[in-house]
Parts: sequence; C-alpha cells; structure tokens
Amino acid sequence: ALFTPEIRAAIDAHIAKYPPEWKQSAVMPALTIVQDANGGWLTTELMDDVAAYLDMPAVSVYEVATFYGMYDLTPQGRHKVCICNSISCMLNGSEELIAHVEHRYGVKPGETTPDGRFTLKEVECLGACRDAPVVLLDKVYHEKLTPESLDKLIEGLE
Ligand code: FES
Repeated sequence: ALFTPEIRAAIDAHIAKYPPEWKQSAVMPALTIVQDANGGWLTTELMDDVAAYLDMPAVSVYEVATFYGMYDLTPQGRHKVCICNSISCMLNGSEELIAHVEHRYGVKPGETTPDGRFTLKEVECLGACRDAPVVLLDKVYHEKLTPESLDKLIEGLE
C-alpha cells in the first residue's frame, strides 16, 4: 500500500543509473526511500515489495537491510540519534555520550523515549573519525560532541 507512484518514481531515478540488468544495484537507495516514507523503519512487506520491484530474491533484500546500520526493522521514534561507538569515537568520549543519554532520557541503545521523540542507536564508524565523537542525527552529522552540545541538539528536536 505504501508503494505509491511517487515512491516508484523515486526508486526509478536510481534504477536509471544502472544498466537494465543491474537494477538490483538500486537496492540500498530503494530501501532508504521506503524506510523514510514509512516513519523510519522497514516492514517485511515493504522489503518484499522492494525485492519484487527490483526482481531480486527477498532474502537478498533482508540481508542488506540487516547488514547496514542505517536500516531499522522495528518502529522508531520521530528522530534517530545515532552515536558512533567505533574505536576513534570510543577513545574520544562516545561511551560518555551514550551513558549521558541513557541517564538523562532513560533510553538505552535500541530504545525509544516514551514520548516517541527519538530512538537512541549505537552505530559503527560513520567515516568521520577525525572529528570524533560523531553523532548522526537523522541524516545530519554532528562532530566533536560533548554531553552538553548533544543535549542542545536533542532539546532542539520536536
Ligand atoms: Fe566514529 Fe569513525 S570511529 S566516525
């Protein structure tokens, strides 16, 4: 039902970047488009729709969706606060950030605040290690965060 003409058109724009026999190459942007349209998470039905649309086995779509940290298979808060906890960020205070959010907002990684405002996620290296610790808030990178600057970001979420 969510696979609307608008969504198809958005996916088609990615399919068009590849030779026709390679339309499966659009699986990652297709999942992102569908996830965004569904409030930030993917249902099995939606992944099946993507598989059918790209002529690929559903299991291959599930593999992509479970392998990459940017896809979520459970309902999410209105925002996603993704704290990198790979080595550079860990050495520069990401664990302190996570502990701070746990303490202040009462959510552990993978959990959503009771008001649905945000889901806390612990993620792998975001590729911005020079500016550790890094937080991806929805789709925007924030660098060299402290508990105080992270609070400001979270307080600014609606
Ligand atoms: Fe955090 Fe690379 S370790 S961005």
